Amino acid sequence: MKILVINGPNLNRLGLREPTIYGSNTLTDLEKNLLVFAETEQVEVACFQSNHEGDIIDAIHEAEGQFDGIVLNPGAFTHYSYAIRDAIASITLPVIEVHISNVHAREEFRHTSVTAPVVSGQIVGLGFKGYELAMLALKEQVGGKNR
Ligand code: DQA
Repeated sequence: MKILVINGPNLNRLGLREPTIYGSNTLTDLEKNLLVFAETEQVEVACFQSNHEGDIIDAIHEAEGQFDGIVLNPGAFTHYSYAIRDAIASITLPVIEVHISNVHAREEFRHTSVTAPVVSGQIVGLGFKGYELAMLALKEQVGGKNR
């Protein structure tokens, strides 16, 4: 089972960016932890980050056939990118949307997710742990399908 983790814009600034909201750990810390977690869970993981909408769309398209599921934090694209929403809808892989912060406790514009209707589920506000929980959910979802 292979999982692709995609982090969107500004998530390369984790650790530096608004640490009271996103914590003091970096994207490298997050990705290292996910690699270790994946090993203990006996899944394969690849991590990708981009600040560019088109690159994220390409990564979503290219994941089909190469991965069994996607963990996606689209960053601010969550709130307005119909193109990313359509990319998710265009593939058959399960996608779980993750937000580090509790977007519902923040500014009004963060309460809307245009990607939410086309993902399998959302994990919000649980910090970096959300990515691990999303991986477990995919493992169960995809494992269940193969049984
Ligand atoms: C975020 C929440 C978004 O509103 C914000 O634009 C981000 C990060 C999160 O992980 O909490 O860049 O997706």
